Amino acid sequence: MPSYAVIGASRGLGFEWLRQLSSVAGNTVVGSVRDVRGTQEKLKAANITNVTLLSAEMKDYKSLNAMAAEAAKVLPNGLDYLIVNGAYQPQESFPLPPTAFIGKEDLLRDDMLESLEVNVLGPMYSINAFLPLLRKSSIKKIIVISTGMADPDPVVPSGAAFGVPYASIKAALNMVVAKYAAELQPEGITVLALSPGLVNTAEKAPTPEGMAMYGAMVQTFQTLYPKFQGPISPEESVTMQAKVIEKLGMAETGQFLSHYGNKQWL
Ligand SMILES: NC(=O)c1ccc[n+]([C@@H]2O[C@H](COP(=O)([O-])OP(=O)(O)OC[C@H]3O[C@@H](n4cnc5c(N)ncnc54)[C@H](OP(=O)(O)O)[C@@H]3O)[C@@H](O)[C@H]2O)c1
Repeated sequence: MPSYAVIGASRGLGFEWLRQLSSVAGNTVVGSVRDVRGTQEKLKAANITNVTLLSAEMKDYKSLNAMAAEAAKVLPNGLDYLIVNGAYQPQESFPLPPTAFIGKEDLLRDDMLESLEVNVLGPMYSINAFLPLLRKSSIKKIIVISTGMADPDPVVPSGAAFGVPYASIKAALNMVVAKYAAELQPEGITVLALSPGLVNTAEKAPTPEGMAMYGAMVQTFQTLYPKFQGPISPEESVTMQAKVIEKLGMAETGQFLSHYGNKQWL
């Protein structure tokens, strides 16, 4: 039975990955979180017992190396699937188009650098830490969670000028994925950047400002995707992502695909 490691699994899509993967008897599931005790309680409340939870901070390569060393103890045959899910999602800068940072350069710099550290370096540290275990597997799949917002093609037609640090840094992540794919192809290791769709992972009810921003964002996306009704659930997204990952082969390595397995982001 396959083995999985999910990096950044305390909540949202990462927690849903733990829930779905651990529901299949025989799967070995490892999850990394920053708050092990808090997530243990959430797992217990959800009646999930067969997950090995380990601590890791994505900005800290030493903690990811230590996590991989610890994970090796429950992965005697190596790791089949590495899913790098966790990400920094800037809140304050998200609604702003590029020129709105005039006079807010500190916010721009802080969000760009934090995004770079967590969303580009974090996945690189994660992949490098787990490579020895992936090499021992016969499946060898690395999935890095990206976003459709990192595709430059729909930006001008939809007028989506917001999300500058988040989308730009995830676009850089897509290039990193292509570089790993190019290097690891001869070893039979496949690497994919995967967008989960627009997913409702909010834990709290949104504020009126949040709702207004969200409504405007949905309207923007509807210019390109008229059938788009709004966000999907974590359960639906992970189910769809899992199908894409299952089909993933060397023909797709290095690509950037959606939860539909193509370039339809919503
Ligand atoms: N939700 C969407 O609509 C959507 C759309 C496109 C792409 N995505 C991508 O899908 C993935 C999951 O999104 P989500 O909505 O589930 O996010 P989320 O609910 O905000 O959860 C983010 C996860 O990342 C972890 N994380 C953040 N910073 C970290 C760090 N420095 N070190 C370790 N872990 C860290 C968080 O852990 P803590 O609890 O410790 O903070 C949490 O488990 C992300 O890569 C996101 O960019 C989401």
